[in-house]
Amino acid sequence: MNTSVANSDMTHLAKDADWWRGAVIYQIYPRSFQDDNGDGIGDLRGITRRLPYVASLGVDAVWISPFFTSPMKDFGYDVSDYRDVDPMFGTLADFDALVQTAHGLGLKVMIDLVLSHSSDQHPWFVESRADRDNARANWYVWADAKPDGSPPSNWLSIFGGSAWTWDARRCQYYLHNFLVSQPDLNFHEPAVQEALLDVARFWLDRGVDGFRLDTINFYTHDALLRDNPPLPPEARNATIAPAVNPYNHQEHLYDKNRPETLGFLRKLRSAIGPYNGALLGEVGDAQRGLEILGEYTAGDDLAHMCYAFELLSGDRPDAARVAEVMNHVARVAADGWACWAYSNHDVKRHATRWSLPPEGQRLLATLLMCLRGSACIYQGEELGLTEADVAFDDLQDPYGIEFWPEFKGRDGCRTPMVWEASNQNGGFTTAARPWLPVAPEHLGRAVETAEADDDALLHHYRHAIALRRAHPALAKGTMEDMRVDGSVLRFHRRIGDQDLLCLFNLGNTPQTVTLPAGAWSIVDAVPEMTLTTTKTITLDGWQSLVMKPEGGE
Ligand code: BGC
Repeated sequence: MNTSVANSDMTHLAKDADWWRGAVIYQIYPRSFQDDNGDGIGDLRGITRRLPYVASLGVDAVWISPFFTSPMKDFGYDVSDYRDVDPMFGTLADFDALVQTAHGLGLKVMIDLVLSHSSDQHPWFVESRADRDNARANWYVWADAKPDGSPPSNWLSIFGGSAWTWDARRCQYYLHNFLVSQPDLNFHEPAVQEALLDVARFWLDRGVDGFRLDTINFYTHDALLRDNPPLPPEARNATIAPAVNPYNHQEHLYDKNRPETLGFLRKLRSAIGPYNGALLGEVGDAQRGLEILGEYTAGDDLAHMCYAFELLSGDRPDAARVAEVMNHVARVAADGWACWAYSNHDVKRHATRWSLPPEGQRLLATLLMCLRGSACIYQGEELGLTEADVAFDDLQDPYGIEFWPEFKGRDGCRTPMVWEASNQNGGFTTAARPWLPVAPEHLGRAVETAEADDDALLHHYRHAIALRRAHPALAKGTMEDMRVDGSVLRFHRRIGDQDLLCLFNLGNTPQTVTLPAGAWSIVDAVPEMTLTTTKTITLDGWQSLVMKPEGGE
């Protein structure tokens, strides 16, 4: 363990144990952020080099997608050594330097722990599959075939096909909710839980401030291996898997969302307690996502917050939809905490997904900073990057290759970050060929170009983040009096004596709304406006407005 990092980190964290509540977290996808060694793939030194840029956005933390040793079948979400850095990304010393630089810049570091499954190349699985009697025989989910030889249950893999694969050595099936090469760890086995808690401690001792917990609701499966019931067509939605995926045609009662997960979360929370770190769980469930978020974040002994999929979905949210989601989360997670995002490394970039004009992207950025919950920004969304069109021959994502062409996979949101317009690879790499092509249409949006353009979205992101930081009510306050007037969404954020009235026109035509009684003054308006009357106000299309009572904080 690098004690100097760990010790300085503890002092740093001791300052605000509640830092995660309302934090703005910048997601870095390491393969595509910055290549430092010229091999066409991003790496940890590249990230460290670009941290001053991330800090300049005003965010509180970074979440770094997996950089652990991995055969990269799912680009790092298939870990073969939880305690080391894949050589393609660098070394543990590079990671320590990254943490130190981040902390020096005032940024917390959250890393992505993929505990639900490992790679099939992890020594634990290699041992587990050797025979039925070894010390780790029960570390993964093994089950006999049904009498007719078919898999033990009807569970499906999100990435296509059955969730069970036959292993000819053990003459048993093993479970994998994702790729065949991502066997599911058996959380019913106490030794597995202990080993995973040790992994968490290993990184906490190295100075990390928290974890994004991959697929947290997949940790435990039904020990009786009961079949999932079918889901009627009218109940299906595609927030976590594309509509063409049969995974969407089952109700996932037994393969995930099992109550035993809570026991493990309690242990993880108590392990992270002395470090003042934060747990951000990813909850993927198209039907019950918010309810599960409520369950997993209730009280103060489970996850601190959970990552919600509701604003990652296909349809552009209008005022009514945002209100519905916020009211829903208030109902089912009154005692919990959500983390919102519009884009990430798994979904089509929202500028494209929602066909947003630049004003729409601005409005949504401000809205994200005014919602109750923490917020994740995915690298490049601050530049307005659109989904890249990756040709079939360049595809890397096995998920896209499986469901092409109805679903093109996740490569279009994972193409490299663009730093400089003058360089053919956007300053991402000196290699002739990056692992995924840089989208030519992204070059004009490179950071360097945006910095020099006062109208660039980048400056608006900084503005919106600064607004949140300047007003505790936006980061940590209550959200009350939600109302929808046509295309205008309004709510109050309150904390102590601070009362902010937030109004957003999520449509492209002007809309007049009545203001609450009293005198209100403008805290922030984008585009700028002046008040002409005290009773009503007309918001232009895609205009946002944050107000406070005259003379208020
Ligand atoms: C990650 C994906 C990954 C999957 C399996 C997720 O939800 O975000 O990128 O493929 O878990 O680990």
